Amino acid sequence: MNFKKLFAGFILLPVAIPTFAQTDSLLAGQGADFFKSKCISCHAFGKVLVGTDLSLSKTKTDADLNLAFDRMEAMVGPISVDQRNQLLALIHAENPDGILNPPVPEGIVEKLPGDPAAGESLYYGETALTNGGMSCVSCHSSFRNSGPGGGKLGLPLTGTFSKFGGSGLTSAIKNAAFPTMREPYRNHEITQTEAEHLTAYLQSVDAQPEYTNSFTLIFSSLIGGAFLFGILGVLYRNRLISVRQTLKS
Ligand code: HEC
Ligand code: HEC
Repeated sequence: MNFKKLFAGFILLPVAIPTFAQTDSLLAGQGADFFKSKCISCHAFGKVLVGTDLSLSKTKTDADLNLAFDRMEAMVGPISVDQRNQLLALIHAENPDGILNPPVPEGIVEKLPGDPAAGESLYYGETALTNGGMSCVSCHSSFRNSGPGGGKLGLPLTGTFSKFGGSGLTSAIKNAAFPTMREPYRNHEITQTEAEHLTAYLQSVDAQPEYTNSFTLIFSSLIGGAFLFGILGVLYRNRLISVRQTLKS
């Protein structure tokens, strides 16, 4: 008896089973794409956000779920019959959260020069940035499942790494390419090494939803709103003054 082979068989078994349910898993995958575009800001599987924990909806009938989708249409716009079937497949899937956040296969992770642990420490302000810039978490969401959840603006950086790619993200961070972020870092430049560490950290949390709860969500949108209005206010005031000055002269 070859125990190694037997053991390997046990490991491969769960990999083989899903192929029997190919069409269901295809539908569920499409459901996951739709879910990410319309529902993910309010719902998750396995935790309560603004909306309910949808892992608890698994036992509901399709009719009940369709009634719920009707109510959701007020917030997300029309949901077609096809999209409803995809969502139902997702809700009834064995592990919806695993479909939404698939584990990244070991082999294809882009190898980066930065160190994720050093990046994490910079992100949360536990290590100060060399040139005295604000920590990222003051505006961006927290990925830690404890402690103060979410940044003040609550901007999630989930998926940002896949969007920009390693070197793209590093240079974007280093040059603070994002309009609202440029100002606070104008005189506090982020170094190349720091940007590389931060990129490595964002890679490590790329598939992870930000830690959030309804309280921080509401709170951060209030503060975020105030912050943006503040910026607009400053810009607008300067504009009025320059107009007045031109009129006077
Ligand atoms: C703006 C926030 C928001 C968005 C976006 C949203 N939902 Fe909801 N959802 C809620 C809230 C709040 C409830 C609880 C009240 C209710 O059932 O009407 C809910 C309830 C539900 C329920 C019923 C749960 C149960 O078992 O009773 C389902 C199913 C559901 N949502 C699915 C979706 C799907 C699918 C989407 C995307 C197409 C979506 N929701 C988008 C906030 C949201
Ligand atoms: C003063 C608030 C603030 C701070 C501090 C801040 N950001 Fe941002 N960041 C923003 C805002 C607002 C946006 C989105 C709007 C925009 O593009 O201007 C953004 C966008 C981004 C994006 C692009 C996201 C996307 O998907 O397009 C990345 C990446 C990013 N920030 C990384 C960082 C990192 C890393 C740090 C820490 C070094 C940081 N930010 C610190 C406010 C901030």
